[in-house]
Amino acid sequence: MSTPVLTGPNGRAELSRYAEQLIRGRHATRAFRPEAVPEETIRAIFSLAGAAPSNSNAQPWRVEVAGGARRARLADALQEAHAAQRLSADFPYSEDMYAPVHQERRAAFGAGLYGALGIGPGDHAARAAYDAESLRFYGAPHAAFLFVTGDGGPRLAADVGAYMQTLLLAMAAYGVASCPQGLLSFYADTVRDELGVTEGKLLVGISFGYADESAPVNHVTAERAPLEATTAFHG
Ligand SMILES: Cc1cc2nc3c(=O)[nH]c(=O)nc-3n(C[C@H](O)[C@H](O)[C@H](O)COP(=O)(O)O)c2cc1C
Repeated sequence: MSTPVLTGPNGRAELSRYAEQLIRGRHATRAFRPEAVPEETIRAIFSLAGAAPSNSNAQPWRVEVAGGARRARLADALQEAHAAQRLSADFPYSEDMYAPVHQERRAAFGAGLYGALGIGPGDHAARAAYDAESLRFYGAPHAAFLFVTGDGGPRLAADVGAYMQTLLLAMAAYGVASCPQGLLSFYADTVRDELGVTEGKLLVGISFGYADESAPVNHVTAERAPLEATTAFHG
């Protein structure tokens, strides 16, 4: 199958400008306005995200989207589970998975984020309180939960990762802000119970809605490593 050459309405240069804007313009949003995203916009976004690639086109994602009263109940249940330390991560998590260079980048990101919130580096209690509060989806009116179906192994999880980024970009294209939240996946049983999910392993939750542009936390930028640090060109 050949790939048609993509062009924007005014040519390829315009399309790459849009792509730069879309990809570099998407940021994790951590303060939302309360108003709901119209249902037809939500449907258009999730329909577009379904165009994500996957190995042999297996499309191993199962997506649960919560809004309204269900989202409010789920936020309460997540906070309860967190307070009771009822952790139930489908995918194991350990700080040890990070290489030293990852830890440096994480520390720089954490300093920027908590600094913007006025939380000092040694203030572990304030950081923990902020993280606990984030289980209310940073105030977003909607949350999507991405489950990996099949055996839930790394190859299938990678496909769901591709779906996640496609979804985040589709949201950005429709003016909808988002925050992927790994923390939500630490309470997989709570999400399953509240949403009646019977299939799959929970990879990540995504809070979404309209950004509160007046919140300083939404102006924190996370730098990226230079190209040479992550990518080699051979040949
Ligand atoms: C899989 C995944 C899990 C994440 N988990 C969290 C989270 O639990 N809480 C949070 O505030 N941000 C979370 N983030 C957002 C990242 O911190 C953010 O994407 C990163 O710092 C780069 O910033 P940017 O998205 O604004 O470019 C997560 C992002 C990804 C992709």
